[in-house]
Amino acid sequence: MSRKRTWGGRFRKETDALTEAFTESISFDRTLYRHDIEGSIAHAEMLAKAGLLKPREKSAIIKGLRGILRDIEAGRFEFRAEDEDIHMNVERALQERIGEPAGKLHTARSRNDQVALDLRLWVRNEIEAVTGRVRAVQSALVELAGRYAASPMPGYTHMQRAQPVTCGHWLLAYVEMFERDVERLADCRERADVLPLGACALAGTSLPIDPRVTARLLGFGRIARNSMDAVSDRDFAVEFAFCLACAAMHMSRLASDLVLMAASEYGFAILDDAFCTGSSIMPQKKNPDVLELIRGKCGRVIGAMNSLMILLKGLPLAYNRDMQEDKEPLFDASRQVSACLDVLAPLLRQTEFDEVRMREACGRGFMDATVLAEYLAARGVPFRRAHRIVGELVGLAESRGVELAGLSDEDLRRAHPLLGPDARKVLGAAGAVLSYASPGSANPAFVRREVAAWRKRLSRPAGRAR
Ligand code: ARG
Repeated sequence: MSRKRTWGGRFRKETDALTEAFTESISFDRTLYRHDIEGSIAHAEMLAKAGLLKPREKSAIIKGLRGILRDIEAGRFEFRAEDEDIHMNVERALQERIGEPAGKLHTARSRNDQVALDLRLWVRNEIEAVTGRVRAVQSALVELAGRYAASPMPGYTHMQRAQPVTCGHWLLAYVEMFERDVERLADCRERADVLPLGACALAGTSLPIDPRVTARLLGFGRIARNSMDAVSDRDFAVEFAFCLACAAMHMSRLASDLVLMAASEYGFAILDDAFCTGSSIMPQKKNPDVLELIRGKCGRVIGAMNSLMILLKGLPLAYNRDMQEDKEPLFDASRQVSACLDVLAPLLRQTEFDEVRMREACGRGFMDATVLAEYLAARGVPFRRAHRIVGELVGLAESRGVELAGLSDEDLRRAHPLLGPDARKVLGAAGAVLSYASPGSANPAFVRREVAAWRKRLSRPAGRAR
């Protein structure tokens, strides 16, 4: 037995089963149930205030909606594909529960502004949750940075040994990246914080509503200033996807660094067994699969952002059903990023670094050459000349199979009279890192100061998004 559809007044024929299966979104937009109901409750409050619902009708609607919410959360609710989407599923259930007054809930509202509202509420909520997870990863990094604040390790450019840095400094670079992600999320929230309700299908309504009431109830900072924009704008979703992609990109780079550092060729990082997996054929293997998957999922999240932009780029105003396709990539991106952040924090907390291996690696590759050139520059030698002089010393040392510290006092003085025994202080990784003096450099003293500052900052109650 087929039922008449909510919108079925003008239809003479039943919906084809293929059409129903093809157009339904309940299989994925049920994710929005809480926001849909929260939005409907606020809408009902506003309608009552505007005189469009009697107090008794409002109470029945709100009571019915709360019951539906409870049933969904208890897993007792039956979602039906024939009711298309979350909005109609909730409305149909309300109709069944309370009868007539349910038919008044959709006064001065369209699914077009309703879905825009639900998605904005969802994004606001996800931003808060993702921010908390990024904070946990930052905390793990800061604790590691504190532990290895003074441990020299090779720094690379072009994947070639460049200059010694400290392990803590390298770790804090990622803390900075994730901080920008947190800032971007907060910024994105600003633009998501607009109530689209009241736009109705696209033009607004002739009914005497006051969206400012609904906005206040739902904690929105602003109401939409243009109804056509309100129902067709998905910038906030694209922006959230970008924030997620950016955080995923940072995790991916960190994963890449760690995969290399955990390889036996480097042997700098020691990953905990609990966050590695084995090989089905090679008994000796301990693989960094978790990190590799974090890197892999990043592609998927960037894909979601691309999908959204491509989805929107050709759409005429105002609402088009194409927009229904915004949800799956967006939901997936947020779920994947959350899963990555959730596993990354404990993985980092259990990671150790081999200070001996890192120090040994710093002992090769003439990584102190730059500070030696700077030693001369500080004493008045033009840097270009200092560069050449030290370059020649590197050539000499290389031909003898030694590092710069392995050259004799005589070799150094012959290269330049200013290269006396005092110059040896900047040689070797330990000397080099201690010589760094610029703000933001890898000097252990700076790293310790930064660690203290980050600890303080991260211990402050997470910037409550609402
Ligand atoms: N499921 C739809 C979406 O996700 C809801 C809005 C439907 N509006 C409509 N006029 N068909 O976009």
